[in-house]
Amino acid sequence: MDTTDKNESTTDASSQNPKLRSQEWFGRTGKDGFIYRAWMKNQGFPHHLFTGEKPVIGICNTWSELTPCNAHFRELAEAVKRGIWEAGGFPLEFPVMSLGECQIKPTAMLFRNLASMDVEESLRANSLDGVVLMCGCDKTTPSLIMGACSVDIPSIVLSGGPMLAGRYQGRKIGTSDLWRFAEDFKTGAMSQEEFVTAEACMARSQGHCAVMGTASTMAAMAESLGLALPDNATIPAADSRRKVMAHMAGMQIVEMVRKDLKPSDILTREAFENAIMVNAALGGSTNFIIHLLAIAGRIGVDLSIDDFDRLSANIPLLANLQPSGEHFVEDLFYAGGLPAIIRELRGVLHNEAITANGKTIGQNCEKAACYDREVIASVDEPFKPESGIAVLKGNLCPNGAVLKPSAATPALMKHTGRAVVFENIDDYKARIDDPDLDVDPTCVLVLKNVGPKGYPGMPEVGNMTLPKKILAQGVHDMVRISDGRMSGTGFGTVVLHVSPESAVGGNLALVQNGDLITLDVEQRLLHLHVSDQDLAARLVHFKPIDLGYNRGYVGMYIRHVTQAHEGADLDFLKGSSGSVVKRDSH
Ligand code: FES
Ligand code: MG
Repeated sequence: MDTTDKNESTTDASSQNPKLRSQEWFGRTGKDGFIYRAWMKNQGFPHHLFTGEKPVIGICNTWSELTPCNAHFRELAEAVKRGIWEAGGFPLEFPVMSLGECQIKPTAMLFRNLASMDVEESLRANSLDGVVLMCGCDKTTPSLIMGACSVDIPSIVLSGGPMLAGRYQGRKIGTSDLWRFAEDFKTGAMSQEEFVTAEACMARSQGHCAVMGTASTMAAMAESLGLALPDNATIPAADSRRKVMAHMAGMQIVEMVRKDLKPSDILTREAFENAIMVNAALGGSTNFIIHLLAIAGRIGVDLSIDDFDRLSANIPLLANLQPSGEHFVEDLFYAGGLPAIIRELRGVLHNEAITANGKTIGQNCEKAACYDREVIASVDEPFKPESGIAVLKGNLCPNGAVLKPSAATPALMKHTGRAVVFENIDDYKARIDDPDLDVDPTCVLVLKNVGPKGYPGMPEVGNMTLPKKILAQGVHDMVRISDGRMSGTGFGTVVLHVSPESAVGGNLALVQNGDLITLDVEQRLLHLHVSDQDLAARLVHFKPIDLGYNRGYVGMYIRHVTQAHEGADLDFLKGSSGSVVKRDSH
């Protein structure tokens, strides 16, 4: 075996593929080339891997035991590597910050932008020609895509896949049942022992949440944007075909490097519009809006919150999936997967949008079949006529607020009620179950200071559990309003993402107990029945809260985070810095 570097003089033979970015590192002569190659060789890589014949493919891995939804990613990465080797690439796996939705306090959303910075700088600083983005739990998808967009080297998304549906006491369960269990626990209908049994029954396999929550919404977003291969979004994590998908993604990224197919080639305005329409038909998470806006900001596509309402207005709900319906993401896969949904929508989508495999989204899905109309309805006979995410405006949310009609109660979609105000999450927790709380089912629960700056990080607390005494009456929904978010697995008549948030003195901060509030979803209205004059008088007494975060990332986040209707990215992260690094390390 020849392990010498006798071919050193030919390392400038980036002639093999003069375009490869990695040759800026490995193709160098003299001291710099020595440094860039020598230490890499301690892993046992032969010299010919560095000569510019094989594209160097990063595998950006969010594996972590603290992100259980992504805990199977080391094994999955091995399948990616097989695909990369087979296609003639040179795989190099690296870790980035991983965000476990259910572990991270105060909320994983606080760190989405930080993780995106980690991805961006890791991609740019290293000798990579392309990258496979290994995404799973909610925030791990937008953060990786955002980072990749700000560098713009060929990138493909590989999702980890959903969990198998849980089974509890003979019936299927998923994350959306958590919210029902929480109500039962509050009223005493479920014991702590039953809770412990149910939690093991729910999370019984590898993968992310089994319902159309934010993780599956993000996987579907990646597929409908064209950043992933067909079927990537729905193959269960535990299905052997998930590894086949990983292998194929590994093969395809090598091809994408050879063709120089970059995120900026795929992520056109049309691709974003496709993703919005597909998300509507799926009944995807409200978090979709905030993440897609942030991605658009990175890639330079002009997208506004109003586009979501406008583009989904005529899209019916096709997928019968929790939380808007009954079934699970694995059922969507068995019924034909996302391609079957996309094919249903071919009359309205931009079918010519290019995708990661070099084909158009229309070509990818033209033969897609639906095997179960119970799970994927047709456009002619939809599951529900209305879908999407309603964007509300009014004096309570001049820059917008959102509500998911498919997961709300029809009778509350036009409602006027008396505000019951909680100044912050601690106030809510302290008083919500107080028997003396002056509240009835017609009231509107208002929660302040759970926005991007106010919590900080805009947590998923907007679907606040109802007062115990209301639940005891058998009432399971009330109008709730906040500047926070809701889990994609959540449901109810919940108004979220109120902008501007209360922490910056938005009118939400000025709501007082007893004020009347009107929600009218059909009119897209959220109105506080207090005159401008009275609001101005109240504003005089507004004092910004001091959360005591003066330093570090969180201090920087609070200073620079944008409002929900802008995607809640950090203001200085908008756009791209490209992939060029001018200076060497020594
Ligand atoms: Fe990770 Fe739901 S907790 S996807
Ligand atoms: Mg979530």
